[in-house]
Amino acid sequence: MTLRSAHWYAGQDRNAYIHRAWMRRGTPDDAFDRPQIAIANTASDLTPCNAHLTEVAKSVANGIYEAGGIPRELPVVSLGETNVRPTAMLWRNMAAMSTEEMLRANPIDGVVLLGGCDKTIPSLLMAAASVDLPAVVMPGGPMLTGTFRGVPLGCGTDVWRLSEEVRAGTLSNEDFTRSEKSMIRSRGHCNTMGTASTMALVAEALGTVIPGVAGTPAPDSRLLEAAHGTGRAAVELVAADRRPSTFLTEANFHNAIVALAAIGGSTNAVVHLLAIAGRLGIELTLDDFDRIGSRVPVLVDLLPAGRFLMDDFHRAGGLLAVLREVRDLLDPAGLTVTGKPLVDYLDEAPIWDAEVIRPRSAPLVAEGGIAVLRGSLAPSGALIKPAAASPELLRHRGRAVVFDSIEDFHARIDDPDLDVDASSVLVLRGCGPKGYPGMPEVANMPLPRKLLEQGVRDMVRICDGRMSGTAYGTVVLHVAPEAAAGGPLARVRTGDWIVLDVPGRRIDVEADLSDRAPNTDGFAAPRRGWERLYVDHVLGADTGADLDFLLGSSGSEVSRESH
Ligand code: FES
Ligand code: MG
Repeated sequence: MTLRSAHWYAGQDRNAYIHRAWMRRGTPDDAFDRPQIAIANTASDLTPCNAHLTEVAKSVANGIYEAGGIPRELPVVSLGETNVRPTAMLWRNMAAMSTEEMLRANPIDGVVLLGGCDKTIPSLLMAAASVDLPAVVMPGGPMLTGTFRGVPLGCGTDVWRLSEEVRAGTLSNEDFTRSEKSMIRSRGHCNTMGTASTMALVAEALGTVIPGVAGTPAPDSRLLEAAHGTGRAAVELVAADRRPSTFLTEANFHNAIVALAAIGGSTNAVVHLLAIAGRLGIELTLDDFDRIGSRVPVLVDLLPAGRFLMDDFHRAGGLLAVLREVRDLLDPAGLTVTGKPLVDYLDEAPIWDAEVIRPRSAPLVAEGGIAVLRGSLAPSGALIKPAAASPELLRHRGRAVVFDSIEDFHARIDDPDLDVDASSVLVLRGCGPKGYPGMPEVANMPLPRKLLEQGVRDMVRICDGRMSGTAYGTVVLHVAPEAAAGGPLARVRTGDWIVLDVPGRRIDVEADLSDRAPNTDGFAAPRRGWERLYVDHVLGADTGADLDFLLGSSGSEVSRESH
C-alpha cells in the first residue's frame, strides 16, 4: 500500500526534496517511508481542562514510534468552555474546519485526536469525518473529586447550586468564594456527567475510542498507558485503512444514543452527534434520539441527575459496565476503531459499585434519555431531559414571561415588580445559533430572586439556546426554528398560555401567532469575520448547527501543489 504521505516524501523531484529536507532536523532516513501520524492536540494554557494533553501526547508518540510510525504533533484550535467568549459553541465549527483543513493540507496518514473540554472532541470528530483519514480519539479524562468542608463538589453543577443558594440568602458570599478553591482538584475536565464526560463516553460508544479508555481520570497512570496503546493503534489503523467512512454507520450512532441515555448524558451531545453524522452523510434525525433513547433506563447516578462524580464512575466499572446492562438494546453491527464490534468488549465488564452504576433491575430512572417535543412553539423540534426535570412539571400549563435577549433577562429577572409566580413559564429567545450568535448555554435561566426566597427551586423554562451539561431543571431547549430564524418563539408574548406535555411530546402556545410580527429586538447581524460567516451559513439546532457548506466530506486528496 502506498502511504498518503508518500505523495509528499517519495521520489527524487524538487518538491520531494523540499518536503524531506525541511522535515529532517534529526529525523532518520527511513522515517519518510513510515506512516506519519498526526497528534491533533488541543492542549492550551487557556483550555485548562486540556492543559495536560501535551504529556498525554508524549505517551501517544511513544506508542506510535513503537508500532513503526512517526508521530507529528499538530496543535489545533482549542476551546476552553469557561473562558471563550461569547460562547465556545460559536467556535466549534471553526475549530472543526481548521483542523480538517490542516490534516488535509499536511503529509499525514492517520491521526490521534486529543480532546477533553466540551467542544474539543466534537470538533475533532467532525474534522476527522470530513477529511476521512484513519483516526482515533484519545480522551484527556475527567478530574478527581474536589471537596469543600468534607462534601464533594461537582464541577459546574455545584456552581449553579451554590450561586442559587447565595441568591436565596442561604449561603454567604464569603463561603461561596471560599468554595472556589476546592472546585477544581486536579488536571482534567469537569467531573460531572456534563458535556465533556458525556462526549468522551459517547465517542467510545460510537466506536472512535479504544473500548475501556474513556472516563479514565486525567491524573490516573492508566491514562498514559491508554495513550500509549492508542498511539500504537493509530499505526494499525493506517495499515488496515480503517477510515471513519469505512466503519461509522447508523449502527454506531444507534449505540451512541443508547449510551447517551444510559449514562444520563448532556443534551449537548444531541447537537454534536447530529453534526458528526452530517459530516458522514448518515441520516440521523432528532427523532432518532427519542425513538432509540427514550426507552433506555438511566443507570448512572452522577451529577447533575444523581449523586456521584466521574472518579466514582470509573471505579464502579465505567462505560463498558453500563453498556453490558443494556446489551440487548445495542446494535451488534456497530464496529469500533479496533475493527471489532463494541458488543465484543462487554463480556468482562462487571459493575463494582451498584450505587454508582445501577443494574438494569434497579435503574435510577426507568425511562430516561432525551425527549423530543414538537408543537406550535417548536415545529422543528425542541429537547427536554426528563431525568433532570421536576416530575410534577412534566405536564404544565402556565403564563409566559418573555425575555428578548439574555441582557433583557438579566435586567428584569430580579425586579420585585416582575409579574411572575411559580407557575409562570420563563421564555428566553434570541439565543439560537444565529440569534446570539453561537447558541450559548443559557436555557437553564436562574429563577427570580423573589421566588427563590419563597423556596421555589424549579420552573418551566423555554429557550432556543442550549444548557450546560452540568445543569438541571425543567428546561425546554434547542427550540427550532430559533427566534432569529423566524420561529414561532419570536411571536410569543408575555401573558400567552403555554402548555408543556412531555409524556405527549408536545410544546404549544395557546395563541394565534399568525398575525403577529416577529420580535427581533436584540438581533444584530455581525459585520465581518467568523461571526459573519457563521450567521450567514449556520443551520438550525435540529440538524446539528453546522455550517451548510461543511456538511459531508471532502476526503483527504489534494491534487495541486506548487513551489
Ligand atoms: Fe472544560 Fe467543563 S469547563 S470540561
Ligand atoms: Mg458547557
